[in-house]
Amino acid sequence: MDTKLFSTSVSDLKKAAELLRNGKRVIFPTETVYGLGANALDCDAVKSIFEAKGRPSDNPLIVHIAELSTLDEIAEEIPEKAKILIDQFWPGPLTIILKRKNVVPDVTTAGLDTVGIRMPENPVARELIYLSGVPVAAPSANISGRPSPTDANYVVEDMMGRVEGIIDGGACSVGVESTVIDMTGEIPVILRPGGVTYEEISALLGEVRGGKEKADDKETPKSPGMKYTHYAPKAPVKILRGTVGEIEIFLSSRPHKCGLLSFDEFKFNTNAEIISLGSINNPKECARNLFRSLRDMDKLDVKEIYAPEIGNDGLWAAVKNRLYKAAGGKIINATDKEIVFVCTGNTCRSPMAEGIFNSLSNRGYFATSAGIYAADGNLPSENAVLAMSEMKIDIKNHLARALTPEMVKSAFLILTMTQNHKDAILSAFPQFSDKVKTISEFAGENGNISDPYGGDIEVYRLCAHEIKKYINLIYHNLD
Ligand code: TXA
Ligand code: MG
Repeated sequence: MDTKLFSTSVSDLKKAAELLRNGKRVIFPTETVYGLGANALDCDAVKSIFEAKGRPSDNPLIVHIAELSTLDEIAEEIPEKAKILIDQFWPGPLTIILKRKNVVPDVTTAGLDTVGIRMPENPVARELIYLSGVPVAAPSANISGRPSPTDANYVVEDMMGRVEGIIDGGACSVGVESTVIDMTGEIPVILRPGGVTYEEISALLGEVRGGKEKADDKETPKSPGMKYTHYAPKAPVKILRGTVGEIEIFLSSRPHKCGLLSFDEFKFNTNAEIISLGSINNPKECARNLFRSLRDMDKLDVKEIYAPEIGNDGLWAAVKNRLYKAAGGKIINATDKEIVFVCTGNTCRSPMAEGIFNSLSNRGYFATSAGIYAADGNLPSENAVLAMSEMKIDIKNHLARALTPEMVKSAFLILTMTQNHKDAILSAFPQFSDKVKTISEFAGENGNISDPYGGDIEVYRLCAHEIKKYINLIYHNLD
């Protein structure tokens, strides 16, 4: 498909608006992130948004408007408290969930009887919507699962050839998506923290629920596998806790090139690639830089990315939420020890073992995985992803990697699926016999976990349960 690139000149915005009016897709800047827009009232146009993004159709879209008069055309009733929010925060980075009118089709709201509405502040966005004459449904303009784009060059990277038009409006000033607040019940509920903070909203409305990550600084992290990975760069992200000294030691012992997201004020003596989010005293700056930093990590060819732990105050809640989602909830301490699960191709057994182990609460160990004959970058087998999702564990973003001598040296413990895997490692590294075991041996039993590769889902389920049984035994034996 031919994608037209537009500037923000009035004549270009008129052409882009014409595309929207004709049921086509246009990516446009907003103050939060770029949106992938189409006429919200045109079923086929909205369907084509989901296609371009590769987004599951059960996730509803936000409808963007340029004038308050459009609100009454698409929302059924506007409660008093919602009016207060509109007065205060529109135009701006706040999406309000209201009862929908029937003109809004099911595809836009994913069949819900509510609709999310936002009036963006960015003048290009508002002019475009105004000129198009239609309400514009627009999710963030990234391929589903990737970091949201906050500059036109990232949009071009993901979306060239997938949409009819792209408007280059430069960098987004807020940098994280809008706050989503449900105003259909008695008490307002923040569904996603964003550019407008919990504190700003509750100061106006009184009691407000949601909007803060539950696993806060003092809490022990729980079942990270319950969460769904979003905003993910290509290398796996983990939240890393520790002092500067602990983090330096941790990074120096990693077997790969690492990336570290940090703040201007922290000085690390490390070989890791460091990208600063900004000043630790400036959440606006850090929010603005966040998605760019995640995408820039990909360009540095790092194999692991570590992100700082962040507080929940004000705009930090939004930054924290995005980083936790990028990490799929994985939080480790710099003093934790690494267990590497090993199988053949690192697409079935060992990524399942890694996922199961990391879904347990942190007891001073974290798991990774590798394969003796793995092709770097292979995706996990579909049935492994499915069997894990049935256990509420998300491994779909796992990328296979081959076991390297550096990994063998730096691991605290290596657990293989079979005796053959163990023998293969020890024939190359006999000096590490103390730390290379089969998973069953380390659990105090014996036997091999056979390869489910090519089997149906039932074969994978059985394999996953066998691995889980051993991991439960191991987990409780770790001191
Ligand atoms: O800043 C933003 O909000 C950007 C710009 C382009 O406006 N848009 C954006 O859209 O982030 P998207 O689709 O990536 O995220 C919209 C979020 C999703 O989590 C979706 O589930 C939620 O809003 N949402 C939309 N309509 C909803 C509804 N009726 N009820 C509950 N959640 C809704
Ligand atoms: Mg999004």
